[in-house]
Amino acid sequence: MSNVILHAEGLNKSFGAVTAAANINVKVQEGSVIGLIGTNGAGKTTFVNMITGYLKPDTGRVIFSGQDITQLAPRDITRLGVCRSFQIPQLYNSMTALENLEVSYGIVSLMAHHGSLFTKMDAKIPSYDKNIRQLAEESLEKFGLTQYRDKTARVLPGGIRKLLDIAMAMAVRPKILLLDEPTSGVSAEEKFDIMDMVMKAVRDGNTTVLFVEHDMDIVNRHAERVLAFYAGQIIADESPELALRDPQVIKYIIGETHAARLQEAH
Ligand SMILES: Nc1ncnc2c1ncn2[C@@H]1O[C@H](COP(=O)(O)OP(=O)(O)OP(=O)(O)O)[C@@H](O)[C@H]1O
Ligand SMILES: [Mg+2]
Repeated sequence: MSNVILHAEGLNKSFGAVTAAANINVKVQEGSVIGLIGTNGAGKTTFVNMITGYLKPDTGRVIFSGQDITQLAPRDITRLGVCRSFQIPQLYNSMTALENLEVSYGIVSLMAHHGSLFTKMDAKIPSYDKNIRQLAEESLEKFGLTQYRDKTARVLPGGIRKLLDIAMAMAVRPKILLLDEPTSGVSAEEKFDIMDMVMKAVRDGNTTVLFVEHDMDIVNRHAERVLAFYAGQIIADESPELALRDPQVIKYIIGETHAARLQEAH
């Protein structure tokens, strides 16, 4: 059995009367791909935020590679190798795709140079001996973005913005990548290609991936394991095959009609 790289232990989080996380317990195996599903307000982003340090749980702990990271600042968690994308891409809109990536690689390169990027627990500090431009160009190619190299981020289509955002998050060579709705705001036609590209590019380095996704076909296609959120709780934690047939998941998340269609498709 592979290593547990991340352990969310008894996470609770409330906003006033709203329970956004209710005793969340999850162990993530290194190298796995996990789909996070649930209706609006179920607690998916809250979970991602607690793992990445943007929100502190009321109680509970987040353990990454044996280290308690619960109280660390988001940037320190990023430095350890836990990275994320947001529901809305965080790009430098007035810069080109290439320049956006150069900024990311530039920051990573500086942090590596100053020794602040990786901790002692990580013996394999990646070498940044290639120049920033070259790393950015390679990333464009890896994510199928070369044709958008010199386009200003502002004018890029939704799906391409998502890809660029994820490519930038990958500059740090994360051990875990959390993607919050990588295909939201992307047209139905583009969705599958975008997600295929993302998975191909991030799986190259064997990065562990947790992705929030509303489209069950995409979950089915890419996730090895599904965490189903409802009212701040995880109501199912199983393979996609089982999760998409789970009575609770069907009742609270997928709906009977859609579930029947999914079953037919398999
Ligand atoms: N900063 C906050 N302040 C107050 N309430 C919040 C805050 N963040 C989240 N919530 C509430 O916590 C609950 C869970 O929200 P969360 O954003 O985690 O849901 P989600 O599953 O990501 O939903 P969506 O699919 O719409 O993105 C919701 O009821 C939401 O309104
Ligand atoms: Mg959300």
